[in-house]
Amino acid sequence: MKSLLFSRFLLLLPWVLIVIIVLDIDSSRAPLPALSPRGGAEGGSGGARPPTPRRRPEAALPTIYAITPTYSRPVQKAELTRLANTFRQVSRLHWILVEDAAARSELVTRFVAGAGLPCTHLHVPTPRRYKRPGLPRATEQRNAGLAWLRQRHQHLPPPQPGVLFFADDDNTYSLELFQEMRTTRKVSVWPVGLVGGRRYERPVVENGKVVGWYTGWRADRPFAIDMAGFAVSLQVILSHPKAVFKRRGSQPGMQESDFLKQITTVEELEPKANNCTKVLVWHTRTEKVNLANEPKYHLDTVNIEV
Ligand code: UGA
Ligand code: MN
Repeated sequence: MKSLLFSRFLLLLPWVLIVIIVLDIDSSRAPLPALSPRGGAEGGSGGARPPTPRRRPEAALPTIYAITPTYSRPVQKAELTRLANTFRQVSRLHWILVEDAAARSELVTRFVAGAGLPCTHLHVPTPRRYKRPGLPRATEQRNAGLAWLRQRHQHLPPPQPGVLFFADDDNTYSLELFQEMRTTRKVSVWPVGLVGGRRYERPVVENGKVVGWYTGWRADRPFAIDMAGFAVSLQVILSHPKAVFKRRGSQPGMQESDFLKQITTVEELEPKANNCTKVLVWHTRTEKVNLANEPKYHLDTVNIEV
């Protein structure tokens, strides 16, 4: 009797082992990110299509909302392509693309449709009187992005965890930057490369707190930081419904301070990027393209979007 039981056990053992191994392989695969493009384009200012459901470990991640003002010019599609190539690699990123235009352009609409990431496409024109050198840019567009964000969360129960970031279309963003900003509790800050007439600007940190600014330009700014140097939690955006970018009295380089003053204090800032000692974003600016040989009238036999 005993030997019969034992031989049955020996017979079953390999099968049990195989099942265990298969189950194990399957569960170790689960956390890998999906390779296929996520989400889709969404036009209009209505509710965004939620990102494609992902596996559990990522579902807990706060969504990063990136507000990008953009305007029509020869390099626009190239800039947006670089940006989308970066953003597509970031989990749970929702792109709020705001065109500085009276209507959505065909170029950006087509681009958004093929971008392969969750995207909301808005537009608002900058009034003509503000389109002058020496005046701040993209005020209306960033405010449109803020308004969309607030409206979207107005009727939802306790806001989903989220982080807002202003991502100009010409800067260069490392993927590490998104890992850093994802843990923003209220307002987080970090260094920005190639800005302020120096190789970098950074918040000066002592004992984990921001105590000043390393900058070569207007050190008297209350927050001497570029737009690319901070992120704000969605909670803070919703609990300060009046915080917006202001045209009146605002000068270039002061928009960041004027905005941050409304929602936080220097003491409260959360330093990221190893206590603000690493540059993870660069304020790159694209050179104006040379179109000296571009014919006045269309000469080619085909019409090509560039
Ligand atoms: C610096 C800051 O990095 C910007 O965040 C700030 O808005 C700007 O100064 C300012 O002066 O207001 P800078 O590189 O000089 O940036 O500005 P741009 O990159 O030319 O413009 C910032 C954003 O606004 C870009 O995403 C750009 O596409 C957009 N923009 C610019 C418009 O939507 N409309 C415009 O007419 C110009
Ligand atoms: Mn720029």
